[in-house]
Amino acid sequence: MESGQTVVVFGAYGHTGRFVVAELLERGYVPALSGRDADRLRELAASHEGLDVRPASVDDPASLDRALAGAAAVVNCAGPFAVTGAPVIEAALRAGIPYVDVAAEIEANADTFARFADRARAAGTVVVPAMAFYGGLGDLLATTAMGDWTAADEVHVAYGLSSWHPTAGTLAAGKVSRERRNGRHVRHTGGRLEYHDDALPVQEWPFPAPLGTRPVIGEFTMADVVTVPSHLAVPEVRTYMAVDAAQDLSAPDASAPTAVDARGRSAQTFLVDVVVRSGDTERRAVAAGQDIYAVTAPLAVEAVHRILTGRTRTTGVASAGAIFDAPDFLRALSGHLSVDVRHEPTGGLGIMDPDRD
Ligand SMILES: NC(=O)c1ccc[n+]([C@@H]2O[C@H](COP(=O)([O-])OP(=O)(O)OC[C@H]3O[C@@H](n4cnc5c(N)ncnc54)[C@H](OP(=O)(O)O)[C@@H]3O)[C@@H](O)[C@H]2O)c1
Repeated sequence: MESGQTVVVFGAYGHTGRFVVAELLERGYVPALSGRDADRLRELAASHEGLDVRPASVDDPASLDRALAGAAAVVNCAGPFAVTGAPVIEAALRAGIPYVDVAAEIEANADTFARFADRARAAGTVVVPAMAFYGGLGDLLATTAMGDWTAADEVHVAYGLSSWHPTAGTLAAGKVSRERRNGRHVRHTGGRLEYHDDALPVQEWPFPAPLGTRPVIGEFTMADVVTVPSHLAVPEVRTYMAVDAAQDLSAPDASAPTAVDARGRSAQTFLVDVVVRSGDTERRAVAAGQDIYAVTAPLAVEAVHRILTGRTRTTGVASAGAIFDAPDFLRALSGHLSVDVRHEPTGGLGIMDPDRD
């Protein structure tokens, strides 16, 4: 059991927010339930006796200040983060408390680094964006796979999802991101984000067992292209998505996740396969688990716990891999993720990159 400190969850009654509230309770923290709909907050509070309900709107800074009063940290689970990120970070800076979010939006995450790095560092506080399945986990795995390397030529993050029943929040965030890009695609190459209109390649990815080789969409770009290069010297960061899961996401009749176990997790399983390459040597770290939304809660709450117990490496805006001891962080999640790290010799992994000889 932990300290009983109060941690505000903004967006508490959302699908991911509910997992975060439950995880905070499990770890001995006291979640304060915040978000814009007071009725839905009260409804959620009815199933968790004694929790504070703190309605707040991103358009009303004073309401956010009231919501964060006396709290040790805030976890923002309300997306699109293009809308909620900056106002909640501003409120966290005013309150002088750490901020953690679960943003998957590439541009919103890039904005967080660009807009708040100096102020958060000057305030000596911590802002951790994308502390979630997308962005956070890939960064922890890439940092772990790097081991003693300080630079690499490429980082590849391949997502082997069994299916993808997206939440309304995921779909809304995707829509905002597409609008921000005027329908263009984005990738990270040559050390920067590049917008383009090229067709996305379909290729085979050699996932480890039990998945095996599967078709993936290359340059299906996820938040790892912001988090990984924020602290690792890697010019090329590429992310890939299992074709089946990508099709689920874009299906006109996409349905939300449904719970199949007592923790509320869906039946969805995932493998996140991260390969880093330096010259002729490849290193790999793989994580397997169940339900990308559910697993986001232990990722975000472990981050809060490490921040509040002083197990951080830096201040300011920082990704998971930069601020935490990545291998140790992943070990702490062994109840939620199985992780396999392999520092293998040349050619051992056989990534199918058509550009490589
Ligand atoms: N990086 C990752 O791996 C990862 C993992 C999980 C979730 N996420 C992101 O987290 C966000 C939430 O996802 P979810 O699955 O929890 O979706 P959800 O169940 O649809 O919940 C969305 C939540 O955000 C709130 N919200 C939306 N716009 C808001 C605004 N302007 N002000 C205040 N609250 C607002 C919603 O409140 P109302 O109902 O009142 O609109 C709701 O509480 C999405 O952006 C999703 O992409 C990312």
